[in-house]
Amino acid sequence: MEIATRRMTADDLKTLQDLDAASISERVEGLASFLGQKAGAGLVAYTPTTDARRTSFPEPLLGYIAGFSVNQDAEIIDLVVRSDYRRQGIGQQLIEGFCDAFGHHVTYLEVARQNRPAYELYLSMGFVEYGDRKAYYQTADGRDDAILMRKYGNIPADI
Ligand SMILES: CC(C)(COP(=O)(O)OP(=O)(O)OC[C@H]1O[C@@H](n2cnc3c(N)ncnc32)[C@H](O)[C@@H]1OP(=O)(O)O)[C@@H](O)C(=O)NCCC(=O)NCCS
Repeated sequence: MEIATRRMTADDLKTLQDLDAASISERVEGLASFLGQKAGAGLVAYTPTTDARRTSFPEPLLGYIAGFSVNQDAEIIDLVVRSDYRRQGIGQQLIEGFCDAFGHHVTYLEVARQNRPAYELYLSMGFVEYGDRKAYYQTADGRDDAILMRKYGNIPADI
């Protein structure tokens, strides 16, 4: 599915609550603090409008990707696609947009070992594992490891 993206702003936080995804309130709470920081970076996805004069807001948001961007390196800290729009390539386009905008050298992320949809998505996009953190996440029924992944961008990191 074709989407449009734009930079995430603090104003988007209210709209993200409508995304209909698990733990969205906790996620949005976490995003509030990092968006105010200089390195905070993110994109939101919405349906492209064919009417350039469209002024009605809020836009129907389909998802977001959020992270940090420092010296052409980036780290993804969260990615959510609205539950009824999944498996249509939106996650993939958000990651591409984020890496193109912020991860010119390297893009890093952590993903829970049990989160197969996210892990498979990152693998399919060329992210590779470079380590893990045992029992890093608290889950409903215990703890889960964090898998550390990274993907190199289009500018060598030693330049
Ligand atoms: C993970 C998530 C962002 C994926 O978004 P999405 O828009 O559905 O992903 P895409 O449609 O771009 O998927 C691209 C590829 O990723 C893999 N993938 C995505 N979802 C998958 C699933 N449920 N099971 C297996 N592979 C999956 C597939 O390889 C897929 O390609 P295919 O559909 O041609 O098989 C979405 O499931 C989500 O919001 N999950 C809840 C929040 C979350 O866990 N975020 C990750 C935090 S690290």
